[in-house]
Amino acid sequence: MPATQFQAPRGTQDILPDDAPYWAFVEDEMRRQARLANYGEIRTPTFEDTGVFQRGVGATTDIVEKEMYTFLDKGGESMTLRPEGTAGIVRAYLQRGMASHPQPVKLFTELTSFRYDKPQKGRFREFHQIDFEVIGEADPLADAELVALQWRLYAALGLRNLSLQVNSIGDQNCRPAYIQKLADYFRQHLDGLCEECQRRLETNPLRLLDEKKPQCQAVLEGAPRSADHLCAECRTHFEGWLGYVEGAGIPFSINPRLVRGLDYYTRSVWEVWPPVVGAQSTIGGGGRYDALAEQLGGRPTPGVGFATGMERIILELKDQDVAIPPVGDLCAFFVFRNEGGKRLAFRFAETLRASGISADISFGDRALRKQFGAADRAGAHYAVVVGEGDGEGDGDWVEIKDLRTGGDQQRVPIADLVKVLRGERGAAE
Ligand code: HAM
Repeated sequence: MPATQFQAPRGTQDILPDDAPYWAFVEDEMRRQARLANYGEIRTPTFEDTGVFQRGVGATTDIVEKEMYTFLDKGGESMTLRPEGTAGIVRAYLQRGMASHPQPVKLFTELTSFRYDKPQKGRFREFHQIDFEVIGEADPLADAELVALQWRLYAALGLRNLSLQVNSIGDQNCRPAYIQKLADYFRQHLDGLCEECQRRLETNPLRLLDEKKPQCQAVLEGAPRSADHLCAECRTHFEGWLGYVEGAGIPFSINPRLVRGLDYYTRSVWEVWPPVVGAQSTIGGGGRYDALAEQLGGRPTPGVGFATGMERIILELKDQDVAIPPVGDLCAFFVFRNEGGKRLAFRFAETLRASGISADISFGDRALRKQFGAADRAGAHYAVVVGEGDGEGDGDWVEIKDLRTGGDQQRVPIADLVKVLRGERGAAE
């Protein structure tokens, strides 16, 4: 008999309490880094008008062509579960008048994203991203600040031996000529390309560069490089960015085949890879998107940002054996001898909770020994034993046992319990 008739949808996960400390650890660090660099939190809807992604992410990307969860709502409007966060954030920036705030607007969020892809290690259909964006700023220092923030986030989490890959893919001035050159080159080498690449060549030649199939590699290696075909402004921007990143002491490799999978990028693109690189291992990536606001019908507004996958970070923390701090320590676990004691124990537990001290309590009417077992399993620091609850003065005293040291039980007047558990006063005798 299966435990239930239902299964979570393929490519989704249930994050259970055992794994939750990893999530809390990464989320706490995200917030800390956001505070340290003065980013404000934004939360946008889980679904948007489909056009936001078709126009923003780009109609010929894998994401839009194959991976979106798109549906008609009951009013007949086409909606899409967001496959990423940037397009929705820029939509919110435009719609909510953030263009008239002091610029740039520095934002961060944690979001669920949805992509219908073949699930495998590190690749989910519902996944979570941490996302940082700087909107309204063309200065390459913004690109560098984001790279530095992303790098510091990983370092603070304890991840080691990551590599930063960078490239510039130009802008609307220089990219068309470069893409033409690239397409001409590929047309001259069609025999060395797989069928998928030959098809892509007609829709999105740039994306061929990150094709991983071995049969295409020889042709791809010889392809013209975007960084060699930048206009003067893009070149200055690229050099400026890398100068700041270098100045911050962050090592990087220029990777001429790094183009990223979303069409909104202009100029800077980057990715962070783990020490062991697999097909689905990129921990995070980002870039500049100076034309995105216009593609969404807004005024020209430069922007730059990155996103990093929570699941990928957590996989890497586990692969690198990083020790995670436990989420909160349970201070007191109440055990009792009878129903009267149970009533008192509940009252005392509530008093502790109201005073900010964590407390748990045994349910049911198990034997004292079993209740102590539950206290141990809960990882409580102290077991608090409440008396019978019906005798004269039974509610005046409790006994506490330090489960960490395994010492003797000590009697404590109930009036002192909060202080004793806070370590402000020793137990009686
Ligand atoms: P992206 O490279 O598509 O960029 O995704 C960013 C990160 O999300 C990836 O590096 C990876 O860690 C994680 N990720 C992507 N797809 C999956 C998946 N199927 N399962 C698990 N994790 C995944 C973006 O989404 C851009 N919005 C980043 C950005 C922000 N660019 C500018 N601002």
